[in-house]
Order: sequence, then C-alpha cells, then structure tokens
Amino acid sequence: MGTRPKVSIIGAGNVGATSAHWIASKELADVVLVDIVEGMPQGKALDLFEASPIEGFDCQLVGSNDYAATAESDIVVITSGLPRKPGMSRDDLLAKNVAIAKEVTANVAKHSPNAMLIVVANPLDAIVYAAWKVSGFATHKVMGMAGILDSARFRSFIAEELKVSVKDVTAFVLGGHGDTMVPLPRYSAVAGIPLPDLVAKDRLEALVQRTRDGGAEIVKLLKTGSAYYAPSAAVAEMVEAIVKDKKRILPCAAYCDKEYNVGGYFVGVPVLLGAGGVERVIQVQMTPDESAAFARSVDHVKDLVKATEKLLAS
Ligand code: LAC
Repeated sequence: MGTRPKVSIIGAGNVGATSAHWIASKELADVVLVDIVEGMPQGKALDLFEASPIEGFDCQLVGSNDYAATAESDIVVITSGLPRKPGMSRDDLLAKNVAIAKEVTANVAKHSPNAMLIVVANPLDAIVYAAWKVSGFATHKVMGMAGILDSARFRSFIAEELKVSVKDVTAFVLGGHGDTMVPLPRYSAVAGIPLPDLVAKDRLEALVQRTRDGGAEIVKLLKTGSAYYAPSAAVAEMVEAIVKDKKRILPCAAYCDKEYNVGGYFVGVPVLLGAGGVERVIQVQMTPDESAAFARSVDHVKDLVKATEKLLAS
C-alpha cells in the first residue's frame, strides 16, 4: 500500500462492502476488506476495483481472509456481527456479537496497535465498549457509529415533511443507539430555524418516533437483514473527518466519564472528530425533560455493559 491512509473493514457483508464503496468512491483511503468467508472479500474488493476506472477513483482495494492484510491500518471499521431479524431488538444480539467482537478486536489490535476503531455492530453502545476493553486502546481512539445514522434518518424525515432540501436540515440525536435514543428537536433546525418553530407538535412527535424506530422499519421491510446504505454512508463520513482532519462535529458513540455525568461508558454525544479521533466531547444544555430522557438512555446502556462485562469474562 502507498501513502494514502489505510482503512481496514472487518466483515465484508452489506455494511462492510458498502462502506468500502463509499470510502473508495470518495477516494478517502486504500481499503482492505476482511471476512471469514473464503473468496467473498476478495471478490467484492476486486469488483469494486474494477468500478474504479468508470468512477475515476484511485485507491487500492484488497480482500483477505487473513488479519495480516490489515497490518498498520490507520482506521479499522468493525462491522462483523449478526444483524437483526424482524421482531428482534438490537439487544437480542448481545451474546453472539460480544463473542464475535472479542475475537475480531483482539486480531485487529494485534496487527494495528495504533489504529482508530470505528465500531458498527449491535447493540452498538455495548459492542463499542467491548472493543475498547479488548483492544486496550485509548478512549479517544475508539468510537461507535450510530448518531450520524440516527440523525440522518431524522433529517430525511424532516426534509420530506417540510419539502425542503436535506442539505438545509440539521438534526441532533443523543443517547444510546436503541429504543431509548433521544432525538432533540430543540437543537435541530432548517437553515438555522429551530424545528419546533416549523413543525406542529404532534407531527414532530411522529417524526421523532419514526427516527427511534428507523432501524426496525428497515429490518421489517428487508426481512433478511438490517440497513446498510445509510449506516455505511455514516461510516464514510467518520472516516473522512479523521483522515482529512476536518474537525467535524458529529454525533458518535464516544467515551464519556465526567461529560454529561455518564461515568465511563460509550454513549451517543456530539464530538469533535479529527485526526486525533474523538478530540473532544461537546456538551450542550438540556432541559429537565431532555436530561431525564438522556439519563434513561444511559441507564439502559449501563445494563447492557454490565451484561457485556460478564460475557467478556466468560
Ligand atoms: C440500524 C441498525 C443497523 O439502526 O442498528 O439500522
């Protein structure tokens, strides 16, 4: 590989392969796709490479079944894990996905001790905790992708409701990536105009609920897997912020100790994302209602992490 940043993606399923697609098409990095299925990551990487003359991106794309190919990555995206089936909650995946994350992270950390980790598997806030524990990496180098996805869903629904460009809609989502997530309309805006000034209360509540159920809505439609276009676009946005040192302010699952009084867990908060990884957690004022909703979400994450600690020890 050359002087371009190196991003390895573990798990070449829909989220992994589509992340590779967005990352390559934006020419952000050389990409290594890893999966345990023989030939599959190689085939997908080759196919994507063969698209490069058409799209005009110059990146190396390699597929492998061997973690050695990921050596000295700048960023490793961990997508491996089972997706939900209709009717399942993200939490139902915990035991299986902690076991997978444990093995994957150990291999990743061995070959790329200086990498940043972007975790995508569910239940997100628990799996990112597991990856942090197993890797032993500094907290600012470990993060989970969820808030960008959740806020992108909220933004899509707002834009559709108001018939305005998605470009002019910003949205704010805090808390865990689950049923307790906390979309914050007060900090969401269309061209700077606060959302509550533009959308009636009952409609706003409907958009918030659809955002909370956004993952399940896709699972119910697909029946055989979960969302991947929007999740992987969100991964690429995080990769871009890091490799280009953009200092973007994006909602990510980040380690919070004193921040928001979380006490040492990964939860969805706005962070400043740049070459140093999570360079800062951005703190905002919350109303008592918003604080209570955030605290409920954090409590849920703590319960999941307790179960994760047990699974990691066994
Ligand atoms: C979603 C799953 C991937 O929100 O968590 O679509």
